[in-house]
Amino acid sequence: MPSNHYFTERPTSRGKRQTLTVTLRGRKLRLITESGVFSRARVDPGTRLLINHMEVGEEERFLDLGCGYGVVGIIAALLAPKGKVTLVDINERAVALARENLALNNIQNAEALQGDGFAPVAGRTFDVIALNPPIRSGLRVVHHLIEESSNHLSPQGCFYLVGRTRQGVIRLAQKMSQTFEHVQEIAKGGGYRVYRSRREASPP
Ligand SMILES: C[S@@+](CC[C@H](N)C(=O)[O-])C[C@H]1O[C@@H](n2cnc3c(N)ncnc32)[C@H](O)[C@@H]1O
Repeated sequence: MPSNHYFTERPTSRGKRQTLTVTLRGRKLRLITESGVFSRARVDPGTRLLINHMEVGEEERFLDLGCGYGVVGIIAALLAPKGKVTLVDINERAVALARENLALNNIQNAEALQGDGFAPVAGRTFDVIALNPPIRSGLRVVHHLIEESSNHLSPQGCFYLVGRTRQGVIRLAQKMSQTFEHVQEIAKGGGYRVYRSRREASPP
């Protein structure tokens, strides 16, 4: 496997850094990105669609699974000022950037942890988990992340998944339905779709 793919644990390509300035959910952010991480030149359109449609309560515990340079988790932390956000990625460079970006945007209620899938948050549960899956890591990895999510959601928790239609996100939504009670397509645009599911049905 080439060592500078975004899903590599330790990218070896020399980091070319840049700073993106973006406004999302009405918040202006500065984001440092670098080669060897996902979508370093701009916030990915699928990521934007996810951010624009995710619901985060102000006291909720949120997991940004496969956080890259941290844009989803940073917005979640701003939406949940009394909550706690955890960002996880297997890629050490991504986690280092996510930590820098949390500091750069004055985020106090979030932490970024390096590791494979749920290993860094073993035994913990969250009210919301969001995943823009690492398609290039292969279906086995992506399916495992979807399946494991249900073990880390609070009973009424929500799992969000975004993906590209032409990269098979509809099939991933079918995989979600094997694990979760309700799977709904909540947004679609620019060739991407966002799905939301709950671990259990909401009480009547
Ligand atoms: C499609 S990118 C999404 C990044 C970021 N959430 C965004 O939307 O910009 C998927 C991320 O998952 C990470 N990843 C791949 N395999 C992983 C694993 N087994 N555990 C945790 N993260 C993983 C990659 O390093 C990459 O940063």
